[in-house]
Amino acid sequence: MSKAIDAAKFRETLGHYPTGVAVVTVLSENGQPDGMVVGTFSSVSLDPPLIGFFPARSSGSFARLRTARYFCVNVLASDQEPLCRRIATVWQGKFDGVAWRAGPLGSPILEGVVSWIECTFEDIREAGDHYIVLGRVHELGVERSTLPLLFFQGGYGRFSPGSFVATPDPELIQAARLAETIRRQLEVLSAELAVNCSVLAKIRGDAVQVLAANGAAAPEAIPLGHRQPIIPPLGAVFMVNSSPAEVDAWLERAPDDDAERRVRCRALLDKVRERGYSVLAAEPELLRRHEAALSAFEQSDRLPRHERAVRQVTSEFTDLFCPDLKTGERYDLASIVVRLPTPPDLPPMALRMTGLARSLSTEQIEACVERLKQVADAAAQ
Ligand SMILES: Cc1cc2nc3c(=O)[nH]c(=O)nc-3n(C[C@H](O)[C@H](O)[C@H](O)COP(=O)(O)O)c2cc1C
Repeated sequence: MSKAIDAAKFRETLGHYPTGVAVVTVLSENGQPDGMVVGTFSSVSLDPPLIGFFPARSSGSFARLRTARYFCVNVLASDQEPLCRRIATVWQGKFDGVAWRAGPLGSPILEGVVSWIECTFEDIREAGDHYIVLGRVHELGVERSTLPLLFFQGGYGRFSPGSFVATPDPELIQAARLAETIRRQLEVLSAELAVNCSVLAKIRGDAVQVLAANGAAAPEAIPLGHRQPIIPPLGAVFMVNSSPAEVDAWLERAPDDDAERRVRCRALLDKVRERGYSVLAAEPELLRRHEAALSAFEQSDRLPRHERAVRQVTSEFTDLFCPDLKTGERYDLASIVVRLPTPPDLPPMALRMTGLARSLSTEQIEACVERLKQVADAAAQ
């Protein structure tokens, strides 16, 4: 005989597991949507394609839903909490004024949802005070690729990707203050060489631009305060004095599947340590893809899917990072980055030069590096 479990303890314990929030809809006989909110939605099988959810046997809504031929699971977005609260009631008019369109099989797809899955009932079986409902998937699609609504411990929320999230940081203000001390030198250098120069600070896993001087014909596209995730090989200059654990954490931000590339990034870091600067060779098509991936990442609230895309495209820079510069050869460079020495209480910082002229000789590149290093050293005075 199973031990009696206290209901409050059961709810409290199981409430520590988060769920998404979905609305199961059907088209009722009067041509209007009907439905219920479920947190118990899950994918079940790919072959055959099955999904499941668990309605309470006491649910009046489900008693109506189960008579329909088709139903649609609508995954709610993080900004649809008011809609969720409204539909999770017994009120008859809960769908009044709710915008929707008919899916391919006719069941309602609610406006603004993340995704929808149209199904037929495959199986409905009793499980204690609930039903286990299996739905066979016939049609499905992503409607709005954005953050889903989450339900956790009785509250609503949304996903925040841990790895790339940078919270406001006092270090940022200190870094901006230090950058101010070399503003004049940076502006002179930028105007003289007709390049863009910026000061970057490493705030957690991001490179944040804290000062910019745009002397190049094409101004720097990245705005002040912009945060760019530091993914290998980029950001090596920040890692020059980092502990082995920090270096490992940096290397782990490369795509998961490429151990060999990680080894190469570690070797590239050694090269940067030796030289005291990094250069990135320009490959316009890759730079465009990188910029597009970064802006999709920013605009999507840093969704994990876009995070993976940024990692992937950034790792493709490995072949272009810190090439051996040969006398007599010419190079197109996307950027030169030197370390900016900082006191121990400040985050690692760097100076970056972009918007460089094409086809630079090794001597010209070395001259740019020297000028950047002089400005960086001025900050240490
Ligand atoms: C976030 C959330 C998740 C829910 N998940 C479920 C669920 O998985 N199964 C269920 O039967 N009811 C669930 N409910 C409750 C129903 O949505 C709804 O309150 C209930 O169906 C309304 O009563 P009635 O349909 O029985 O008339 C959930 C409610 C909320 C707010």
